[in-house]
Amino acid sequence: MKNVKIIKGQDKTAFYSLDSKKVYLVEGTLHGTNSCDIFSSDHTEIEKEPIQKKMFCELTTGCNLFCIHCYGNFKEYGTNELSYKEFKDSIRYFYNRGFKIVQFTGGEVFLRKELLFKLLSYVITLEVDRIEVFSNLNLLKDEDVMTIKKINPNIIFRTTIFSHREHTHDTITTVNGSWRKTVNAINLLKLNNFKVEVALIIMKENYKELEDTKRFLSNLAVQFSIDAVRPSGRGSTTSCIEITRKLGFNTLRTNENGEVIFREYELRNRNKLNSCFSRTIALSSSGLFFPCIFARNIPLGDIKKDSLSTIYKNLKLVAKTYSWKNIKGCNNCPLNVSCKDCRPLVYSLTGDMSAKNPLCTLESGSLKLEEITI
Ligand SMILES: C[S@@+](CC[C@H](N)C(=O)[O-])C[C@H]1O[C@@H](n2cnc3c(N)ncnc32)[C@H](O)[C@@H]1O
Ligand code: SF4
Ligand code: SF4
Repeated sequence: MKNVKIIKGQDKTAFYSLDSKKVYLVEGTLHGTNSCDIFSSDHTEIEKEPIQKKMFCELTTGCNLFCIHCYGNFKEYGTNELSYKEFKDSIRYFYNRGFKIVQFTGGEVFLRKELLFKLLSYVITLEVDRIEVFSNLNLLKDEDVMTIKKINPNIIFRTTIFSHREHTHDTITTVNGSWRKTVNAINLLKLNNFKVEVALIIMKENYKELEDTKRFLSNLAVQFSIDAVRPSGRGSTTSCIEITRKLGFNTLRTNENGEVIFREYELRNRNKLNSCFSRTIALSSSGLFFPCIFARNIPLGDIKKDSLSTIYKNLKLVAKTYSWKNIKGCNNCPLNVSCKDCRPLVYSLTGDMSAKNPLCTLESGSLKLEEITI
């Protein structure tokens, strides 16, 4: 086998085949080689994937829908929500520190659409890699599409569909007609050549319809990703870990073809930095910063009281605190370079920020131990 990286654990060794993009796990450790030896000097495009840092800006806590799983309990506008200048200065600060993907989200961003348009117009003046607008699209009007097209036709829309069935979707959003509005808006955006990505969030209410919904989204010709509901906020009543397990969710990071994603920088940083918290930061509409939209139990600071440099310092500290080195049972795992770590998910399931993920690939039995010859 060529083009292999070896990662040694305490009692297991992982072989990452960069050609087949598979991981082979064998019992025991290998002697005489260093972790991360490369058997061939060929490099794949996966290895070269750059670190992409992303900043989430929640423009408002107001929402026109009232989804039963919403982690943020979003509904009413917050009092004293941040101004254009406060968002702009924060975006600029983190852009200068490598955060070159910016997502505008909520609540519902189109409830503050003038602010959204102004911020989009600002962000396109920076050399960002990607701009995303995450919206339920129920309030999107023809003229909004035209306005955004004029600002930049490459802005990416993200939205949410829970089911191919209108009734199931509307039961989750608790607003009749919401499915139809989202689907019509997706078609309008596609007609205008915008890229639209759909999040399909799985919970008790829709998991039985997963396969039909996947087919529906494929026919709609949109890219989609599937995620399990995080049991936080209103989501604590809709999530179910057993369903998540049954559906085959585990922590192995794979692409849509089931191929393992191996990232070179995670190999370098796995015992120094948390794989998410080193790359994401979220700014809420009230001015509080968090390492991620779900990690609301880890405030990094308040823009109205703290300097951005203090907030950034706190982010780096949190990233160090939750590196694999400090996660119980994961320190010496040879799979940790390809393990999706979601500390907020683990925390909401176990009450412990440093616990092993209950969806651990090794414990799920979903990865076969394979014999390999090199
Ligand atoms: C907070 S919403 C904001 C954008 C917009 N309002 C929407 O729903 O599409 C962003 C995404 O987070 C998802 N989300 C909300 N609560 C969640 C939870 N508890 N676990 C996982 N995803 C959640 C939503 O379904 C949506 O796909
Ligand atoms: S998930 Fe999105 S649409 Fe639903 S209540 Fe939360 S912010 Fe609103
Ligand atoms: S959860 Fe921990 S032990 Fe399980 S695969 Fe991931 S890094 Fe390894």
